[in-house]
Amino acid sequence: MAILVTGGAGYIGSHSVLALLERGDEVIVIDNLSNSSQESLVRVAELTGKNPTLYVANVLDKNILRTIFSKHSITDVIHFAGLKSVGESIKKPLEYYENNVTGTIVLLSEMLNAGVNSLIFSSSATVYGNPEKVPLSEDCQTGGTTNPYGTSKLMVEQILRDFSLAQPEFRITCLRYFNPVGAHQSGRIGEDPNGIPNNLVPYISQVAIGKLKCLSVYGNDYPTPDGTGVRDYIHVLDLASGHLAALDHQNEGASFKAINLGTGVGYSVIDLIEAFEKTSQTKINYKIVERRAGDIAECWSDSSLAKQTLGWQATRTIDEMMRDTWNWQKNNPNGYSS
Ligand code: NAD
Ligand code: WQD
Repeated sequence: MAILVTGGAGYIGSHSVLALLERGDEVIVIDNLSNSSQESLVRVAELTGKNPTLYVANVLDKNILRTIFSKHSITDVIHFAGLKSVGESIKKPLEYYENNVTGTIVLLSEMLNAGVNSLIFSSSATVYGNPEKVPLSEDCQTGGTTNPYGTSKLMVEQILRDFSLAQPEFRITCLRYFNPVGAHQSGRIGEDPNGIPNNLVPYISQVAIGKLKCLSVYGNDYPTPDGTGVRDYIHVLDLASGHLAALDHQNEGASFKAINLGTGVGYSVIDLIEAFEKTSQTKINYKIVERRAGDIAECWSDSSLAKQTLGWQATRTIDEMMRDTWNWQKNNPNGYSS
């Protein structure tokens, strides 16, 4: 009995593989290492004393999937593999649709062939577009995405919904992550972005370590308490435990579910800078600049459905998120290549 984790060498995947191994699951990973390093899984093995089986391959390769499903007794699939940069998706829409949408279709058809019918999909709060209200509950309108990355998540959710109607024996859960941050408390695994980070927390931590000079805060004229953007940041280990809870509840409720994974609390950019400064005892150099195109003012989750249906809620505080980010950054100034 094993769990297949696509994209398991990546940021959220590696923390989830660790959580699965820790609770005694057998884990098979397929990852083409297009945005990750095998070193993450070497460290997961060090931390857990257990080895996941890694296939360095593309989820678009149906022959490899066929081999994996025939060699291992897989009961469930957690599908993290995909491309995730909003800006890059605008420049390379076809790559994004192929990886994220076609990749999921290939995976689903091979699951169908192999008779494996439990899937957990990495969706995103981005499917809500410009939020109709906050907190965002799962019955809020989706759509209005402004980039191919976001649209690819929306399209996959629709495909999965349609597929589950045609194949009612399938159990499909789309987990809509809010803003994942933080790292394992050991400081051995964490987020290792390529080049200059686009996301706030990796950017802050690279300013703290001296790799980047100054954080640009994108706007302080939003209708929020301090004028800067507000988001629902969630510790990556809470996200990982959300996946375990989703696996445990796969056979309950509807055959297709979409569930928010967030904390239910919003923090502003300035809140994050202050929390990071406090926990790291560093000073973050920042300046206020123009708003970033496509950004929304505020976004946080109503996390009650996850609590009701999965018995799960996030427990880690913003200070723990910043502390663990800093611990990872200072121990690995160049990520996995240090
Ligand atoms: P990541 O880039 O660190 O991990 C994705 C992994 O998938 C990488 O290891 C990459 O090498 C692999 N991969 C990509 N395309 C592949 C393919 N065709 N075949 C095999 N492997 C492939 O990203 P992450 O932050 O860990 O995100 C995991 C998932 O969660 C993604 O689907 C992402 O869209 C989604 N998500 C992420 C965030 C976030 O802010 N990090 C928020 C919401 C949703
Ligand atoms: C957070 C806040 C920025 C960088 C993105 C994707 C989303 C999801 C997670 C996958 C905002 C501000 C940021 C900086 C700043 N990914 N900021 N200076 O935009 O909420 O979400 O990542 O699904 O789809 O859109 O996250 O970390 O980029 O920004 O002031 O250098 O920080 O304006 O208010 P975002 P983020």
